[in-house]
Amino acid sequence: MKLELSNFDLKATEKNTLAILVCEDKQINENRTINSFLKKVQEIEAFKGEKGEEMILYSPPDLGVHRVLIYGLGKSEKLSPETLRVAAGKAVRCGIRKKLDEIWFAAPSDRKTGMAMEAILEALMEGAFLGNHIYDAYKGEKKRTPVATLGIFAKAADAKKYADIVDRVTAVCQSTVLAREWVSIPANDKLPARYAEMVAKEAEAVGLTVRVMEEDALVEKGFGAILAVSKASDAPPRLVILEYKAEKAKETIAMVGKGVIFDSGGMSLKTGSGMETMKCDMAGSAAVAATLIAAARTKPNVNLIGVLPMVENMISGHAIHVGDIIKTYAGKTVEVLNTDAEGRLILIDAIAYAIEQYKPGITIDLATLTGACVIALGEKYAGIFSQDDDLVKALVTSAEKTHERCWPMPLPEDYKELLKSEFADISNMPSTRSGGAISAALFISEFVKDTRWAHIDIAGPAYIRKENAYCGAGGTGFGVRLLCDFLSKF
Ligand code: BES
Ligand code: ZN
Ligand code: ZN
Repeated sequence: MKLELSNFDLKATEKNTLAILVCEDKQINENRTINSFLKKVQEIEAFKGEKGEEMILYSPPDLGVHRVLIYGLGKSEKLSPETLRVAAGKAVRCGIRKKLDEIWFAAPSDRKTGMAMEAILEALMEGAFLGNHIYDAYKGEKKRTPVATLGIFAKAADAKKYADIVDRVTAVCQSTVLAREWVSIPANDKLPARYAEMVAKEAEAVGLTVRVMEEDALVEKGFGAILAVSKASDAPPRLVILEYKAEKAKETIAMVGKGVIFDSGGMSLKTGSGMETMKCDMAGSAAVAATLIAAARTKPNVNLIGVLPMVENMISGHAIHVGDIIKTYAGKTVEVLNTDAEGRLILIDAIAYAIEQYKPGITIDLATLTGACVIALGEKYAGIFSQDDDLVKALVTSAEKTHERCWPMPLPEDYKELLKSEFADISNMPSTRSGGAISAALFISEFVKDTRWAHIDIAGPAYIRKENAYCGAGGTGFGVRLLCDFLSKF
């Protein structure tokens, strides 16, 4: 699939399809040919521009294109980059259904919409690119094909000025799609060894430094928590470490991602329906790996470390028992009062290792950590936990820009009470279910020392059961666009 940004003569072009976005109360396009065409359409009251309204016209007399797809955005005051992403995604999905091989979107005017041209172009490209992703690796008959060329038609000066956006959006969206697919792959095809190989292959291809630690190395180095979670599984764990170096970097950021390729709950077994989507429990690691892969291509000015613990949380005769006490990489002991609270266990080993080995200025972890976070914020918001207000601000700014929404949550000191253990240094299971997302974050906070740290709980937005405007059912790739934007500021 090819993404393009260009300008051409709309009357003379032979391009297949032009998509035009229209508001119901205001003209938002600038191109004269487009506007006189729209005027005629609106004169005969064929199209109002209401939100979600769609119309296709064939061989329009004033335009060279074979088809025009008009798409309604609703009221202009509601316009935002996200409205454009949604519209572009829907138009592309319509194009897929109609088996089109080319769609060009007319970029609305920055002046008339009050949006920055860069934001307009980025949003259209993202919505189109991501909406064009089809995951059918396991279908016998491949019924749908992506649109081969997706283009943005802009003023000649803008097409030239913003040419570099195409490569940036392509890199970030390709990574998003990679993360989506890793999450959507069923657990039987991504046991830790295989998943580690998939990540390593993609990472090496873009020039990242890759290290994969196998079980022996984890035993030797004392990754007690990762090994405890993985114990019941016949599939040995992995710890994948990715490195990106920027020449003039002043800062090192460690990103740690939860990589539970399937979460049965272990001996604290989940219910049948509670397990249905648990192949998604490695979405944090997928987003972190994909972000580093994007970084290798977009080259942010910061050194990056990705630490990805990969395990399968299973039940068997050699499973960890409820009440077992384990020794973690950091040296502290943990009483495992619930084997389903396994994410925090593998994370603390990975975080302790990252901080000890790389001394990062900032550590960020991404994890499908708690059902409680989904109860608190619903499925479309991630929870963000940090004592560092500047870090929260920066992450929330990127979250708003990319519409990968994050909501700041508290980390109250006195709630640490809930994690007290009679026998070990700490318990992995809080003494109450209330505030479960917070106690999970507080548990991790006990292992971050004094580094700047943020935890993002993506249990809600990592996975969708039904497709939306620019994402099919399955993994969403949540976090990749957010982190890429955050890193681009360094
Ligand atoms: N992987 C789950 C959290 C999860 C739930 C992710 C729903 C995605 C969707 C996690 O390992 C888990 O089971 N957490 C427990 C923690 C509890 C036992 C303290 C939970 O949220 O119930
Ligand atoms: Zn669990
Ligand atoms: Zn889990």
